[in-house]
Amino acid sequence: MIISLVTMKGGSGKSTAAMCLAGQWHAGGRSVALVDADPAATILRWRETGSDFADIPTVAALSDGMAKITTEFAAAGRDRIIIDTPGFRSPVLEAAIACSDLILIPIRPSPIDFQVAADTAELVDEINGSKTGKTVRFLLSQSNRSSVIARHMRAEMEEAGYNLLDGQLSTRVVYGEAALAGSTPTFTQPKGVAAREIAELGMEIDALMGESRKTRSKAGSPRT
Ligand SMILES: Nc1ncnc2c1ncn2[C@@H]1O[C@H](COP(=O)(O)OP(=O)(O)OP(=O)(O)O)[C@@H](O)[C@H]1O
Ligand SMILES: [Mg+2]
Repeated sequence: MIISLVTMKGGSGKSTAAMCLAGQWHAGGRSVALVDADPAATILRWRETGSDFADIPTVAALSDGMAKITTEFAAAGRDRIIIDTPGFRSPVLEAAIACSDLILIPIRPSPIDFQVAADTAELVDEINGSKTGKTVRFLLSQSNRSSVIARHMRAEMEEAGYNLLDGQLSTRVVYGEAALAGSTPTFTQPKGVAAREIAELGMEIDALMGESRKTRSKAGSPRT
């Protein structure tokens, strides 16, 4: 499964979600690889700060190398290949979208994030065109489940027909603290609430993609 974290809004939580999911699946015994498609090299720098991600192969990617890198990781048996992308439209962002099975669009509970996430979903449609078998989901990030704005956002998105994951990454200091140690809450506070929400998110995606594959072979072409 190739997964990209994509949105043209900076700071929405792409790198955090990429690292958290990679760490979660790795800790659960999956064979994970990371692709850092952000020229700022966030993922490469993040993992080098600590040792928890030392066993997860990570490479930088340019747009013309994306297909080759992901194909090589897949051939080497990596079953969760996670691509972090820059927060602006660029050839490398488009290449990541083009080669992914699952496109996750992180969105903070704010009107601007919402608008840019919608633009991003349009870009995804434009790039994918009539290609089948792609799954697109929105992921609430830096959000508190019970807050008025987060509940409003969920309701608005459902009404607009956007597919939002039930799982989310809530606003918690532990995300930033773990990043400072080159890690994620799965390793720094494995029994904490953040580790639990990351685990739930990973399981939701596993279930979603299992179902998606079954649906695809039956129905032919679900995009979402
Ligand atoms: N759930 C969270 N709780 C608290 N802080 C968070 C959370 N998710 C991300 N952050 C913080 O928000 C900031 C932006 O997050 P992140 O770097 O993951 O976003 P990004 O979309 O990758 O940004 P960019 O577009 O600049 O690459 C970071 O300082 C990060 O630690
Ligand atoms: Mg980033």
